[in-house]
Amino acid sequence: MSLSDLAVRAASLAQRFQRIRSRTLGLCVGFSAEDMMVQSMPDASPAKWHLAHTTWFFEQFLLGRDPAWRPRHPEWHYLFNSYYQTVGPMHARPRRGLLSRPSLDEVLDYRRRIEEAVAARLHAGLDEAGEAIVELGLQHEQQHQELLLTDIQHALWCHPLHPAYDEAFDGFAPAALRGNPKARQEWAVQHLKWAASASKNLGIKAHATFSGSLAWPFIYPFPQRPAGLVTTAPDWLRAVGRIPDPFLAKPAAAAG
Ligand SMILES: [Fe+2]
Repeated sequence: MSLSDLAVRAASLAQRFQRIRSRTLGLCVGFSAEDMMVQSMPDASPAKWHLAHTTWFFEQFLLGRDPAWRPRHPEWHYLFNSYYQTVGPMHARPRRGLLSRPSLDEVLDYRRRIEEAVAARLHAGLDEAGEAIVELGLQHEQQHQELLLTDIQHALWCHPLHPAYDEAFDGFAPAALRGNPKARQEWAVQHLKWAASASKNLGIKAHATFSGSLAWPFIYPFPQRPAGLVTTAPDWLRAVGRIPDPFLAKPAAAAG
């Protein structure tokens, strides 16, 4: 690969890093610090924890490769590690809702600092292993975007007044249905039914709840919310021979 090809690839990775990280914060618009600390069940995590954990991933596995890297808060490693047993002990998952500290502002500052450091590494040029770690971190970030959304939906649903759910999730519905909870619910129920049919047609016996984890938007005309959530499905579908190329040439039409 030529030097110019390497430069283009690094620039593309840096752009995706910025875009995907920004999208995570975009999903949190409208939520208060209190909303983002709720853990409504042992299997769910607070939104604030998701923001910190995905940042910790880049610090631990990319920046930490440099022996000179010194974490500003090494004690946070225990708080934001998750199931990576090989890199040390961790706080119990069912008790993440007890983590009132660091504050949301401190976590957002943590995200900014680590993003600046990662961007600097990308700008300086990473080796192949470093680029692979960034790619892995971005896939991990998108996995946690789905988790963040489902977790906070459950948290808000658990609130007896269902306060913020209606406002925060209006953006997921088509523009014509915004501000109309009844129509929006009917739209959402219909999409779940289509998703169940898609699973059945694909031979999937257990229905997954994370729509972005599957490739439904490329098989059935589901609008992605937010648009562009699924970015790699066409390659995967082509590889497994699930769908012909001509259809894959039009993913934008399905993205809505
Ligand atoms: Fe994770």
